[in-house]
Amino acid sequence: MTTCWVIYNGSLVSDKFADQARLVAEAAGRAGVAAKLMKNYETMMDLSSEVELPDFAVLLDKDILLGYFLKSRGVPVYNDPSIIDLCDNKATQYIRLASLGLPMPKTIIAPKVYPNFSILGSGYFERVIEELDFPMIVKEGHGSFGMKVYLIENEAAFHQKVEELRGVDFVFQEFIQSSRGRDIRVNIVGGKIVAAMYRHSETDFRANITNGGQASPVSLTEPQKELALKAADAVGAVFAGVDLLFGADEEPLVCEVNAAAHIRNIMNVTGVNVADAMIAYILEDLK
Ligand SMILES: Nc1ncnc2c1ncn2[C@@H]1O[C@H](COP(=O)(O)OP(=O)(O)O)[C@@H](O)[C@H]1O
Ligand SMILES: [Mg+2]
Repeated sequence: MTTCWVIYNGSLVSDKFADQARLVAEAAGRAGVAAKLMKNYETMMDLSSEVELPDFAVLLDKDILLGYFLKSRGVPVYNDPSIIDLCDNKATQYIRLASLGLPMPKTIIAPKVYPNFSILGSGYFERVIEELDFPMIVKEGHGSFGMKVYLIENEAAFHQKVEELRGVDFVFQEFIQSSRGRDIRVNIVGGKIVAAMYRHSETDFRANITNGGQASPVSLTEPQKELALKAADAVGAVFAGVDLLFGADEEPLVCEVNAAAHIRNIMNVTGVNVADAMIAYILEDLK
């Protein structure tokens, strides 16, 4: 019997990570695979010993090192850890998306500033403000559920934020006014759109459900479909949750690609269990 590990992060206290893993493990079970739920620290990444390994692993976490470890032992890992690595940092993923010319908000990657130093007074930040103006988005490289995305309204808030973020990877981004509090989440598996939802918030510029957004099923326009697929393909994600914004003429813009997209909310909203598509994709891929 084929075996798999469904890996989630055991250090996070919220049940939503284990819940996500259960959805995938149940789908594997339905497909006749013996699935084991694994906290990321359950297998010891002991480089000098043999460890018991599954036929494949679904990595629902950002423990990229565990992904690399498993791959080094010959285990196929989905998504590939190099893709999770690329997507896990919004700066690196925007560099990739922009290099392929995909429509997205105007984005400036912040330069590295060491935590005990400052470039305030160098004139650099004035150039950023001149380019993007206020309100502006500041977004940390690593962050989920909207928690590390900030709407910066003025110069004082801007300077405070950039000082706070010394030592952290982040980007400056044009604020897409026409998309305030609304976006689209598209779940893609193996180059096919499996489900999509519209998310909107009455109370926040961020549409994330965890942040108070409401979701409903949506039928995508052709340009939305095309861009979502291109964005997933651009970063090489076989499993992707692509966020799209609405430009001034309702044209889609890529907001981000999640390589470890959650699937519970989209299932509640659309009735589609993305996990079944994920497992079907893997089993086909392994043939
Ligand atoms: N440039 C932007 N303009 C307008 N709204 C944005 C912009 N970037 C992000 N948002 C809003 O903030 C939310 C969170 O941003 P996102 O980049 O998806 O980060 P996270 O990984 O935290 O979900 C988006 O779903 C969207 O509603
Ligand atoms: Mg998002």
